[in-house]
Amino acid sequence: MMKVLLLLCAVASGALADHLHHPELCNFYSSRKLPVVVFIHPGGFYSFAGRSDLFGPHYLLDRDLVLVTLNYRLASLGFLATGDAVAPGNNGYKDQVSALRWVKRNIAAFGGDPGKVTIAGCSAGSRSVILHMISPMSKGLFHRGIAMSGSPVGKAAVPPHQLDLAQKQAALLNCPTNSSRAIVDCLKTKTWQEIGNSLNGFWTGDTDAVSFWTAIVEPDVGQPRFLAVQPDEAVRQGHLHAVPLLISQTEDEFFWKAFAVTKNKTRRDRMNTEWEKIAPVSFALPEQNSSAASRRLRQAYLGGKPIEDTPESSRALGKLYGDSWIGLNVHRMANLMCRHSPQPVWYSVFSYIGNNSFYQDPTTHKPRGAAHHDDTIYVFSESYLRPPIKARSPPPPAPQDHLMVERMTAIWYTFAKHGNPNPRKGELPELCSLHWPAMQPEDRKYLKVDQQFSVHEKLHENRLRVWDELYPMQY
Ligand SMILES: *[C@@H]1O[C@H](CO)[C@@H](O)[C@H](O)[C@H]1NC(C)=O
Ligand SMILES: *[C@@H]1O[C@H](CO)[C@@H](O)[C@H](O)[C@H]1NC(C)=O
Ligand SMILES: *[C@@H]1O[C@H](CO)[C@@H](O)[C@H](O)[C@H]1NC(C)=O
Ligand SMILES: *[C@@H]1O[C@H](CO)[C@@H](O)[C@H](O)[C@H]1NC(C)=O
Repeated sequence: MMKVLLLLCAVASGALADHLHHPELCNFYSSRKLPVVVFIHPGGFYSFAGRSDLFGPHYLLDRDLVLVTLNYRLASLGFLATGDAVAPGNNGYKDQVSALRWVKRNIAAFGGDPGKVTIAGCSAGSRSVILHMISPMSKGLFHRGIAMSGSPVGKAAVPPHQLDLAQKQAALLNCPTNSSRAIVDCLKTKTWQEIGNSLNGFWTGDTDAVSFWTAIVEPDVGQPRFLAVQPDEAVRQGHLHAVPLLISQTEDEFFWKAFAVTKNKTRRDRMNTEWEKIAPVSFALPEQNSSAASRRLRQAYLGGKPIEDTPESSRALGKLYGDSWIGLNVHRMANLMCRHSPQPVWYSVFSYIGNNSFYQDPTTHKPRGAAHHDDTIYVFSESYLRPPIKARSPPPPAPQDHLMVERMTAIWYTFAKHGNPNPRKGELPELCSLHWPAMQPEDRKYLKVDQQFSVHEKLHENRLRVWDELYPMQY
């Protein structure tokens, strides 16, 4: 199973598209290599793809850059990790490394500059971007990073294996579970369809976990290791392939998971009476001392009150979902990087609510917040999910969603080109003279991206303090 490398690269270039309309520009472009953006798709390491109907090139290629999207093996196919030589793990990340090596070798033939590669990712892709900055395997393969809504540093150390998931996968396909050799030998007799179709089995019972698969610190069994140390330690010790970094979260992330609880009497009652049993799963709390941690979180986020079908209760529970799955992890990584990376870190929160969202209110069919993935709506056409955002059409003014496409793609473009998201004098008027200071450990400034840009300090730090109390981490 592990020998099959399912790796597909799709390359598209703004300049190549222009060639079709302006053949006379061919020579001009071919002598001027364009910055390259490599996008690593989200999906919790078990879903989504780099396919162009999911993450399409249409908006970014109005800029002079080359876009590469890629696929990597997912779920058990990419992240089986038995803790020994049978399946040491991190194969999905190693697929990404293969793609980055391919880009370095070949992208010049597509008009791209192999010396100006930006790796960008959202959620699982964002965790990947940070890990490539840490992995010795990815060193020298890229020059800037964009990490949206994900980081490999959270409440607990990265584990050395995920044998429990391997056993669960085996059980789902009626394979033996009593040794890693037996598990893998049996799984190898299954087709990829059988493995793929068993995915929902991981969500049995009443878990509402967002994802299970993660990077692991690989045991040394003679293989090249993608990750050999704890990510936070690597950053603290400066063992980094440091590059200029944009790191961000959305204002509301997984807030929408609260509605499935507050609007459902069965789930609401169960969460109220069995909080200490449910919270550790719903908020991915480390096992040790999880009852005490659950109680403390309930007090901090819900004021100790029962969960009710009210907007206040939904909002409070929604913040807990958002912070526990994404917000805390991004906060920790931004703070680590701005202290220890020799390269600048720009921090931002995406708060804009437009016409579309990855969460629409079931009654109004309108967006309710800036949800997880919502920032990708303005960077990629997502034709599998929604029609493209219309360009400026008469009469002006242009719709706000379209302005957001112009601003987000301008930030990506100028960052990919210069390693700085701020426009150069006289360039990119759509950025409205954006002045986005890099994050410093003292004042921790960040950019709020909404209808307007604005600069603030100390993102969500008051409410995140409880996590530092429960799960202390040295910055
Ligand atoms: C695993 O279970 C099988 C069948 O029950 C048995 O034959 C085998 O000896 C067991 N192996 C180990 C390592 O326990
Ligand atoms: C409410 O939650 C229960 C338990 O998870 C589930 O079985 C039921 O389908 C849910 N009801 C609705 C209306 O979603
Ligand atoms: C468990 O949590 C309680 C309350 O937060 C704390 O007093 C105690 O020290 C914790 N124990 C461990 C082993 O972390
Ligand atoms: C939302 O869509 C409507 C109808 O297509 C359009 O008139 C409006 O300008 C759009 N709003 C934004 C914020 O783009």
